[in-house]
Amino acid sequence: MPIPSAAPAPPLPFTPDYPLRTERLDLRPVRLDDFAAVHAYQRLPEVCRYLYSSPRDEAASRAWVSDMATRTTLRESGDSLRLAVVVRETGALVGDVSFVYTSRRHRQGRIGYVFHPDHTGHGYATEASRALLKLGFEDLRLHRIQAELDGRNTASARLLERLGMRREGHLRENEFLDGAWSDEVIYAMLAREWRAQRDRQQPGT
Ligand SMILES: CC(C)(COP(=O)(O)OP(=O)(O)OC[C@H]1O[C@@H](n2cnc3c(N)ncnc32)[C@H](O)[C@@H]1OP(=O)(O)O)[C@@H](O)C(=O)NCCC(=O)NCCS
Repeated sequence: MPIPSAAPAPPLPFTPDYPLRTERLDLRPVRLDDFAAVHAYQRLPEVCRYLYSSPRDEAASRAWVSDMATRTTLRESGDSLRLAVVVRETGALVGDVSFVYTSRRHRQGRIGYVFHPDHTGHGYATEASRALLKLGFEDLRLHRIQAELDGRNTASARLLERLGMRREGHLRENEFLDGAWSDEVIYAMLAREWRAQRDRQQPGT
C-alpha cells in the first residue's frame, strides 16, 4: 500500500544545492585536502569515546576522508551524505555531519555529527544538524528522522533536545563496547513536529 503523503518525494538521484548555508556555517562535500583538519579530531580518543569506531591513525583517516568525499548524492535507500562543516567567517573546518536516507519507501532518515573538541560549545553542531533536518523534511519530504547515541553521551543528548527531537527509546545493554555492556538511546522527530516547531519560530512561513 502506498504511504500517504502531502507531496511526492523528489526524484533520485538527489544532490543538495551545496553549500547548505546556515547563519554561521557552510556544509559542503568533504574534499581530499580536508585530511589534516579531519584527522585532527578523528585521531582523538575523547572524540571516538561514544562512536562505534576507534581513534584513526593517518592511513585510516585518509581512507575515511576518501570515502566521505564520495558521499554527496543520494541514489537509493541506504545512501548517505557526509558533509564538512565550515565556519564561514574563518574558513575553519570544525567537524562533519552525516545524513542517511534510511528508507525511501518509509520516508525515514538518520543524522549524525562529529566535531573537534576545540570547536564545541558554540552551538555549531546544533546549527549544522538543524540544516540536515530541514533537508530531510523540506527537500526530501521525509516522515521521520532519527538519531542514535550511546546512553552515556550526554552532550549528544542535549544537542538533540535543543533540536526539539523526542527521546523515543532506551535500549538497555544492547551493545558490548570496550569490554562493557552499554545502553543505546534513540531520538526522533516527525515531519509534523518539524512543521509545528518551524511555525512557532517563524509564524506565517
Ligand atoms: C556531540 C557533540 C557534537 C556536541 O557538541 P556541542 O558543541 O556540545 O554541541 P552544540 O553545537 O549543540 O553546542 C551546544 C553547546 O554550545 C553552547 N552554545 C554556545 N553558543 C551557542 C549558540 N549560539 N547556540 C547554541 N548553543 C550554544 C551551549 O550552551 C551548549 O553547551 P552545553 O551543552 O555545555 O550546555 C560533540 O560533543 C562531539 O562531537 N562529540 C564527539 C563525537 C560524538 O559523540 N558524536 C555524537 C555521536 S551520537
